This record gives sequence, C-alpha cells and structure tokens, in this order.
Amino acid sequence: MCGIIGVTTSKRDNVVDVIIEGLRRLEYRGYDSVGIAVVDEQGRIVAKKAAGTIDSFVRKTDLSSIKGRTGIGHTRWATHGPPTDYNAHPHTDCNAKVAVVHNGVIRNFSSLRQLLVARGHRVKSETDTELIAHLLEEKLEESTSGVEALSRALHEIQGTYALGILVAGEPDKIYFARMRSPLIVGIGDGENAIASDIPAIISLTRRVLVLEDGEFGYITPHRVEIYRLTGDGYRRVPQNLVVSRIKTIEWTPEAASKSGYPHFMIKEIFEQPEALYATLSGSVEDPLVREAARIILGAEKVVVVGAGTSYHAGLVLEYFLAKLAGIVSYPLIASEYKVLEEAVGEDTVVVAVSQSGETFDTLEAVRTFKERGASIIGVTNVVGSALSREADLTLYTRAGPEIGVAATKTYLTQVLLLELLAVFAGEMSGRYDSSTTRRYLDVLSKAPITAKDSIEVGDPEARMLARRLVKPSMYIIGRGLGAMLAKEAALKIKEIAYLHAEAYPAGESKHGPIALVEEGFPVFVVATGDSPEVAGNAVEMRARGAWVRVVKPANYELELPSDVEVQATPPVDSHLLEPFSIIPFFQLLAYHTAVSRGYDPDKPRNLAKTVTVE
Ligand code: G6P
Repeated sequence: MCGIIGVTTSKRDNVVDVIIEGLRRLEYRGYDSVGIAVVDEQGRIVAKKAAGTIDSFVRKTDLSSIKGRTGIGHTRWATHGPPTDYNAHPHTDCNAKVAVVHNGVIRNFSSLRQLLVARGHRVKSETDTELIAHLLEEKLEESTSGVEALSRALHEIQGTYALGILVAGEPDKIYFARMRSPLIVGIGDGENAIASDIPAIISLTRRVLVLEDGEFGYITPHRVEIYRLTGDGYRRVPQNLVVSRIKTIEWTPEAASKSGYPHFMIKEIFEQPEALYATLSGSVEDPLVREAARIILGAEKVVVVGAGTSYHAGLVLEYFLAKLAGIVSYPLIASEYKVLEEAVGEDTVVVAVSQSGETFDTLEAVRTFKERGASIIGVTNVVGSALSREADLTLYTRAGPEIGVAATKTYLTQVLLLELLAVFAGEMSGRYDSSTTRRYLDVLSKAPITAKDSIEVGDPEARMLARRLVKPSMYIIGRGLGAMLAKEAALKIKEIAYLHAEAYPAGESKHGPIALVEEGFPVFVVATGDSPEVAGNAVEMRARGAWVRVVKPANYELELPSDVEVQATPPVDSHLLEPFSIIPFFQLLAYHTAVSRGYDPDKPRNLAKTVTVE
C-alpha cells in the first residue's frame, strides 16, 4: 500500500514528468492522495501535494512551477490520518530541509511525536511519516554526513518502512531505506531510481536491484551506495556486492501499459492465455517444481497460506493434492496464521502463495512458521520479492506485471502452477506412473486455449448479463472444486462491482442461506464435473423464486428445468481445466458490471493491490 518513486537524472532537464508517469503506474498501490517534491537548481526543496487521484492532482496543480533533476513522488493509501492535502506525502521538516515519502507504518509514532513536539518541532500533519522528516532534521544537524544522520534516525524508528528522502542542498541525491516494505533500485544510464515496484520505473530501466530489510543508502545519477544497519551503527555494502545483485528483468514497458485497452483489468483478462502459456512452458521442465512436490510428499503436514485471490488459488492446490496424491493439506488465510501456529513445526511444509510476494500477512505467517522449523515453498509472480527471499524454494508464475487491483491473470497462472505441482506429487506418491503424468501435462497444455475460448465466448455475454444484475446481493454456489471457484468469482464481484456476493458450498443452502432467497434473488451455480448434485441445489433455489444461472462447461450434462438459465463455458475433458473454462466468465462479469455502473475497475474504492500493512 502506498507507492513511492524517486528519480535522479543527469540526462533530462526535469524529472517531474517521469515521476508523474511512474506514479500513474504505481497508482494501484493506493489512490487517496498524491504528491511530488524536487530539489531545484538552487538546492531548495519544492513540494506539491493534494488529496485525490493523480489525474485531479495534475489538473489542479501548476506543475510547471516545479523543476529539478532529482525528485520523489508518492501515491497514498491512508493509514495514519485521513486522506487530506495536509496528510499527503511528501512531508517536510520545520524548515523544508528534508522531504520524505514513506510506505509502511511507524509503530513508535505516539512517543516519537511527543518527543519531537516537546523539542519544539512544528508537526503539521497527523501522519507518522512527517515525524521522520523532523527526526532527520535533528540528526542532520548532529552528523557529519547524510548517511550517518539517516542511520541515526533509523535506529530510533520502529516499524515498517520504504523511504525516499530529499535533502536541501544535495541536488543530485535521493536517500532511501527499507524495512519490511518493498523497495527496489533501478539502475539506468545516467540516471538512477528507487521505487516500490518494477512497473513504476520500467520505462527508465530494466536493470533492478532489490533492497533487503535493514538496508539504506543513496542514489545519484551515476552511483548507488548501500549501507546496512548494524546493532548501533551501520556498515557499507561493498560495490562489487552491489553490482552482483543487479538483475535484468524480463518485463517490458508495454506490459505495464494499457496498450489501447480502456482499463488494465480488461487487458490483463485478455492476456491470460499468453500468461498461462508462459507459466506452463517455464515450469514443466523446471526441476524446482518436482523438487517442491518431493518436499511436500516428505512432510507430515502441509499448510497452504495466502490472502485474497492467492488464498483462493491455494484452495485449488488443496483440492488436487487430495485428488491426485492423496495428501491432506490445510488451506489457511494468511492473517489467521495464529490458528495453526502451535501445530506447525519441522514436520510441516508451508506453500505460501502471493502474486506480489510482499503481502504483509502472508510474510508474517511465513516468518512465524519458518521460525518454528517449517520448510517454505513460495509461489509468486515477482522475482526478488520478499517471499522469494524468505522461502527455501520459490516457484514463479510468469504472468508479467499485473497493474489492475483485482487479480486476474495472476490467479489463473497460480492455479496452473499449483495444479502442475499436484500432478507431480501424484506421480511421486506412487498413485500413477509417468505415462499418466504425460497425459495430465497434455491436459494442462490446453489451459491457454481453454481460457482464450472462455474469454471470447464470455465477454459479450458478461456484458449483456451485467445489466441484469440489479439486486444488491447474490449467491455464488458450487460443490467440490466448484465451491472453491465460486469463492474467487464472488471476490471479483465484490471488489470490482461493489455488489454483495456470497460464496458457499451449495450443500449448505438448507442450513441457513436459503432463508434469504426471494423472487428474483440472483444465484449463480458453478457446476464442476465432480458434483452433478448441484443440479438439485439449482432447482431448490429456483423453486423459491431465485433467478438461477448455472455456469458450466458446455459438454457437462445436467438435468435442469427450462426456467433455470445456463451459462455455457468452453468444453473440457478434465477437472484440471475447469478453472480456465469457468473463471474468465466471472472476471468479465465483474468488469462489465463495474463499467456499466460507472466504477473504475482498476481502482476499486478502499482497496490497494499490495497490502503491505497489518
Ligand atoms: C490484495 C489485492 C488482492 C490480492 C491480495 C493478495 O487484497 O487486492 O487482489 O489477491 O491482496 O495479494 P498477493 O500479492 O499476496 O497475491
């Protein structure tokens, strides 16, 4: 949550445009308020900020009055203090000597504020971030260098942070620091950058260094200096080690732009076949996938942990590990990790799923379980993410950058990779031999085309159906795998279309939920091959007046009365393909419903793509 960027250049006259462009690419991390600060030619800090979106900021701010070759920017998802102009970042100290942008939460905020106010600082906002600016103001006076001052300030701060900092009089330097909030350095040609995420700087450079917790330092247009906090001071990371950590990433600037689509979400839905193809071809021969399966088979307990959509992908792993390998696993919502804490130990393998690899709750769960001796298998879309560094073994989806807040292509690629893992686990468990594995791999190779057909067929139908969703609430039910897919379908509808959608296993209707059903109440029934019984659940809903639409692969036969509608998705010849046949329809339904109601599907209210706070 919150996106930060900083660019220092020797090859442009002004850095403001690239920072604004970077902020647009970071907007998915928060869009309550926006701000930018530069060090101008006279070495003065000039800052502009406002509550609202980047578009409104650009419209109402006279950006031509800010000019400099070194600047920082911020897009906010409010934690301390509501989204107001005052609380927007960057924050400055009493004399505009320091400007700070921050992603994270400072835990010792109250005591720090009291101390600083008592020492005469004029604190202007309600944020924790501003306190860092004042603290640094003091430390700069007491220190012989900016690095020393920053180290001293960081030793007094508790909590999580990714920081970008400008200091007046230092027109070619951006200081930075990282503790449990994502931050990368982009190494360009005559210009360097820092950012929360790769898409923000992808048009500047594809050479990236991922900072680690406890690291801080500065960039100039030609230099990157990294230091590491120690017990009471700091030490420098040698240049050769810095250089060896620079990676060239595969993502392209086009992948992080809308490329003619009205929204990122619809572009990313349409990119799914390609993302699935890339994920499958990158994983089938990857020995790490088989290695992960071996680790799972060797464990006593298997826990699958994730948040939001990634948790839903984890449910599919639970399903196929049981079906194919006879393994019982426990799917766990990341923020609920304490439920299992005492049960996890050296006999446990934890499969942690997170597209960003930076979700706070997922990382907390992973760190806790790791301390208890569990082995960690990470599944993520971001090379170098915190999850990949915490995990003993990391498997990568190859979805490319996902900018829309709602996970779409990352979900289906996670599902594909996790199914592949279960297929290998099945063979290693001795339940079948390599010829059956080859048959399953053949099936999985049809995932991209199944998703493609699903999108082509589903798009016009979802567009029409969106207009019929006039009630504020709906059920999405299924059994077996269908119940798991229903959860993801309901999440999409809630977060993008702002309609209440409840997913539950269809057999539970009679134990409560059916009481709410009345004339016209929408019920979507996800019919998967393992559960022909859902036909009965569809009928019982219809008998109470519900508007029932059964979503099922076209080749599945179900006996349904004529007043139950059917949404036919592409035919499939294996359960493994059901997610790719069924889910795109619901993604498109959520998208078109949002658009027809005038909502922005890329920036759903109150949500951020990567939740890096507790
Ligand atoms: C947020 C996003 C969801 C996402 C979840 C987990 O809530 O809005 O779309 O599924 O975080 O994110 P992760 O990066 O861990 O997969």
